[in-house]
Amino acid sequence: MNPTIDLMNARCSTRAYDPTPLTDEEKRTILHTAMRAPTAGNMMLYSIVEIEDQALKDRLAVTCDDQPFIARAPWVLLFVADYQKWMDLFAVAGVDDMEGVPRGVTPGLGDLMLACCDALIAAQNAVIAAESLGIGSCYIGDILEQAETHAELLGLPPYTFPITLLCFGRPKTKPHVTGRYEKYVVHKNAYRRLSEGELREVSDDLDGAYAAHGFKPGIANFVQEVYARKFTADFSAEANRSVAWWLERWMGPPRT
Ligand SMILES: Cc1cc2nc3c(=O)[nH]c(=O)nc-3n(C[C@H](O)[C@H](O)[C@H](O)COP(=O)(O)O)c2cc1C
Repeated sequence: MNPTIDLMNARCSTRAYDPTPLTDEEKRTILHTAMRAPTAGNMMLYSIVEIEDQALKDRLAVTCDDQPFIARAPWVLLFVADYQKWMDLFAVAGVDDMEGVPRGVTPGLGDLMLACCDALIAAQNAVIAAESLGIGSCYIGDILEQAETHAELLGLPPYTFPITLLCFGRPKTKPHVTGRYEKYVVHKNAYRRLSEGELREVSDDLDGAYAAHGFKPGIANFVQEVYARKFTADFSAEANRSVAWWLERWMGPPRT
């Protein structure tokens, strides 16, 4: 249709990287383009941490649910939902000296959600910019796990939340484009829960798309496999535990 749409349609996650480092110009371009993303109130409620230290990448490859390719990615970016910098700016700007506005206000969960939106939208801009330069990428959702370890390892202060990690590198081989299940994703005017018949159709279609490899004994269909291998898996339980820790920390007593 046009080169932008073609690029987005051809994108796929890249997990095997040529070791060639990204050039400084490529990095600058990707970072600049990430920051051109829309951002709530133009507040840029996020920070980006470039992870270049090999020892740190090695550690993250373990703490993010043992994914060794993280250690082999030439460039890794951490996207942090960040209200800390605004809290620090508020303090320096003397907001408590103002008349007629509440004092001592700290960020709530709505602020956190907006900051996560900002960070993720910037991350996806980085993905597309990289793709246009022939550089592949892969999100690492497991950065949500191991909260205490990641807070310490990455030096994350109270009003921050590491919403995603992105690995970048030139693809060693061209990964293939994965399918999408588009049926029943788009609703009109209001959300509509699917009927049982539609749900059975979705389940059958997923089996058609993904059942070629068969299932382990005790698993009858793809949806059961997702339940067993993802939804109830240890990493998922750890992500839920860990995110509760981040949320408690965010919502805890006011801190400097
Ligand atoms: C929020 C999020 C978290 C993800 N986490 C991981 C991850 O930890 N490890 C991984 O290999 N891929 C991860 N992925 C990549 C997805 O597995 C991938 O996008 C999906 O399988 C579709 O494939 P595609 O990106 O090639 O279209 C993640 C993607 C998203 C959006």
